Amino acid sequence: MLRSALLSAARSPVLRSAAEHSALARPLVDRFVAGADLDAALTSVRTLVGDRLVSVDHLGENTEDPGQAAATTEAYLGLLDRLGAEGLAARVEVSVKLSALGQALPGGPTLATDNAARICARAAAVGTTVTVDMEDHTTTDATLETVRALRRDWPGTGAVLQAYLRRTEADCASLAGPGSRVRLCKGAYDEPASVAFRERAEVDESYRRCLRVLMGGQGYPMVATHDPALISYADELADSTGRDATGFEFQMLYGVRPEAQRELAARGRQVRVYLPYGSAWFPYFMRRLGERPANMMFFLRSVTSRH
Ligand code: FDA
Repeated sequence: MLRSALLSAARSPVLRSAAEHSALARPLVDRFVAGADLDAALTSVRTLVGDRLVSVDHLGENTEDPGQAAATTEAYLGLLDRLGAEGLAARVEVSVKLSALGQALPGGPTLATDNAARICARAAAVGTTVTVDMEDHTTTDATLETVRALRRDWPGTGAVLQAYLRRTEADCASLAGPGSRVRLCKGAYDEPASVAFRERAEVDESYRRCLRVLMGGQGYPMVATHDPALISYADELADSTGRDATGFEFQMLYGVRPEAQRELAARGRQVRVYLPYGSAWFPYFMRRLGERPANMMFFLRSVTSRH
């Protein structure tokens, strides 16, 4: 209930504008977002790469403005140039949302694919990769189509699949081929029961089924979860399917269970941190609040204590 309300608020342009211009929310936002600009983000990246890998996300989803989609694309090109110039590209890739690159505009899927192709080309030039985030279920087919198109020239392009969707086990099977980089997450949007499992136990069971398909396949699974039970399950599956530490990776969000990230890295597992930065933080931040009610209470306390 609270989660649905937060996810619905995340789509409100009025709330978004008010929140992103308010200094009040900043302290809690800083827990999940590594700064408003690239310099701030790179400061965090340099610290993290000591023991972890990173995927950097320039925030700015759901644009309805072609100029904004072009600006986001340019921001990614600038980010990749900096990763290359600073010798970070071997340990740091980027994550992109197609809705930030114009997917929702007229002719959007083609525009977003073209913009993503420019980003993939620059990533390859500096020596790194791109993963295409997955958004709400109305975009799944178009997003997978874009990933397939990008992989013709850049086979290392990562796809994301969401275990809460009923279709995902089948998508895992079709994306488990040689070299296929697939991030498996639970899913962060408010989806109807017609397309998605709504109960936590069902989502977790689907995650396990999907993980078995990916770990048993020939691709490169990227296990994106903070859930200790699923992390242990992935560990066991990796061992039982004969994957060594370089054959898959764990992924977690910036600011979420950092001690668990360090602990996994210390025992030899590859761990990648998803690190968002930028001023358009509201929808991303609201999804993080929705994942954990305690974050919401902390947020409300921090706002009310200032009055
Ligand atoms: P779950 O929500 O059950 O959390 C397990 C435990 O982790 C919690 O009990 C808590 O301790 C901790 N935790 C989880 N979230 C927290 C939070 N926000 N604050 C504090 N503690 C928290 N989704 C999507 O739809 N498309 C995408 O492209 C991506 N990409 C992506 C990349 C990476 C690297 C990660 C880790 C996640 C995503 N997600 C995503 C988000 C994902 O779908 C999911 O919403 C969150 O990861 C939360 O689910 P968990 O698997 O962590 O389990």
